[in-house]
Amino acid sequence: MSDLSCWQQLYRLQRPSPLQRLFHPLLEQHRLTLWIKRDDLLHPLISGNKWRKLKYILRQALSEQAGGLLSFGGAYSNHLHALAAAGHELGLPTVGMVRGEPYSNNPTLDDARRWGMTLEFVDRQQYRRRQDADWLAELTRRHPGYLVIPEGGSCPLALPGVAELWQELWQEWWPELPELDELVLPVASGGTLAGLLSARPASTRVRGYAVLKGAGWLAEEVCRLYPPAALDNGWQLELGHHGGGYAKSSPADRAAIGELAEQLGVPLEPIYSGKALLGLFRDIAAGRYAAGNRLLFLHTGGMQGARGAL
Ligand SMILES: Cc1ncc(COP(=O)(O)O)c(C=O)c1O
Repeated sequence: MSDLSCWQQLYRLQRPSPLQRLFHPLLEQHRLTLWIKRDDLLHPLISGNKWRKLKYILRQALSEQAGGLLSFGGAYSNHLHALAAAGHELGLPTVGMVRGEPYSNNPTLDDARRWGMTLEFVDRQQYRRRQDADWLAELTRRHPGYLVIPEGGSCPLALPGVAELWQELWQEWWPELPELDELVLPVASGGTLAGLLSARPASTRVRGYAVLKGAGWLAEEVCRLYPPAALDNGWQLELGHHGGGYAKSSPADRAAIGELAEQLGVPLEPIYSGKALLGLFRDIAAGRYAAGNRLLFLHTGGMQGARGAL
């Protein structure tokens, strides 16, 4: 089988992710309608925004006959997990540059190793150099012919796969849906948000909840990934719901996320979708969403990362 037919096989496993209406007393009280797009169920091997972002990167790697794939992430990285699974399916070797100490019993890394990913552990100081041209050149020398993918898969080639979410909504669901006022999602490196902005319908605003602390740089990064975003006033970032920082949250916030998951009947993890959805509910309670609005929350997946982190 040719490499591209492996990609097509992987592509065929994708199904339009379900759209669910959510019910909660707070929504009634504020006269809001909320749906959730369950991208956690988008693909059986590579869930959520990872499949959307990696889709065309993987195709490019195959058409360029890359020798392998190399990328960066933390010890619970959804991105490295997805990349390892994809490499395994496509017959491409993968290397993960992991921030931190070797963890022997972390399920994310165990899966990655099982799928053949070579893990190289680096300390925080070295990891900070992940965009540094000298280090990237050294990695390319050590792994000749590999496609080097930025952390989180966020690069211009990630955008078209994310943009397809709108088409999926129109084709599969829109006829039954009224127009949406706002799409809400968790944001870390900004690639998913940039991809959504690249095909945003004029009548739907996009609001990203940053899951990292001190993300003042994020708007600029979104504009670097998708320059027309700088002239688009139909989107905004919420920077105040980081819960203490990336992958951090107080016991009270974790309990609140667990309670929300139960009330809404949707699985949530505390790092991305749980944190952002809690932020959305808190902002609704604070009256920051206009009555009568129709909202869509994007569940970006990442449930695998919660296995060892909780
Ligand atoms: C599950 C999940 N949701 C959301 C995000 C944030 O996406 P982005 O980095 O494109 O902003 C990530 C990280 O990439 C993630 O793993």
